[in-house]
Amino acid sequence: MHDDVERILFSEQEILGGIDRVAAEVTEAYRGVDFTVVSVLKGSCVFASDLIRRIPIPLELAFVSAQSYREGTTSGELEVNYFPAGDEIEGRTLLLVDDILDTGRTLQALTDELTRRGARDVRSCVFLDKPSRRAVSFEADFKVFEVEDLFVVGYGLDYAGRYRNLPFVGGLRPEVLTSAAAGADRVDV
Ligand code: XMP
Repeated sequence: MHDDVERILFSEQEILGGIDRVAAEVTEAYRGVDFTVVSVLKGSCVFASDLIRRIPIPLELAFVSAQSYREGTTSGELEVNYFPAGDEIEGRTLLLVDDILDTGRTLQALTDELTRRGARDVRSCVFLDKPSRRAVSFEADFKVFEVEDLFVVGYGLDYAGRYRNLPFVGGLRPEVLTSAAAGADRVDV
């Protein structure tokens, strides 16, 4: 286990089991439908790549890139700096895939903007859901796990840009979270 991680919340094996379950739900929901998985960079790249390989029906893949100005571990104002091309959105059925649903602001803003740009249907699938932190009334259509109100890293989730490559999800030691890296930050979601 990584020295900075205090405890593991979801092991690699638990994660892959959870993704199998959600991939089956997504497959049933979209069978016979032309749809595009839209991965929210950077955090969801690991989840999205495991998820799509367990969905055995035709799909397309696109990306959005968003950054949030946040103080330490609290998500703040969102800036979207990359959208798929217009013909990848207009009239399309989209499944937004994100690493974690926290306050809900990121997925709410992306859903609104994709709808405004002409998407036919926008649903969402998240790896983790922290319902206790919700600030807007947004719920994901598919989710793998719920987590308590704890800052988590691994499996795509970062702290100050690190830990995305851990194959499990864990909570950091408090002394790591209070280190100098916790200042105001512009972070990829
Ligand atoms: P909102 O609040 O918009 O936030 O739902 C979603 C984005 O906030 C980041 N986030 C986290 N990142 N561990 C992380 O590594 C966490 O516990 C955590 N909580 C929120 C993340 O970038 C997510 O896409």
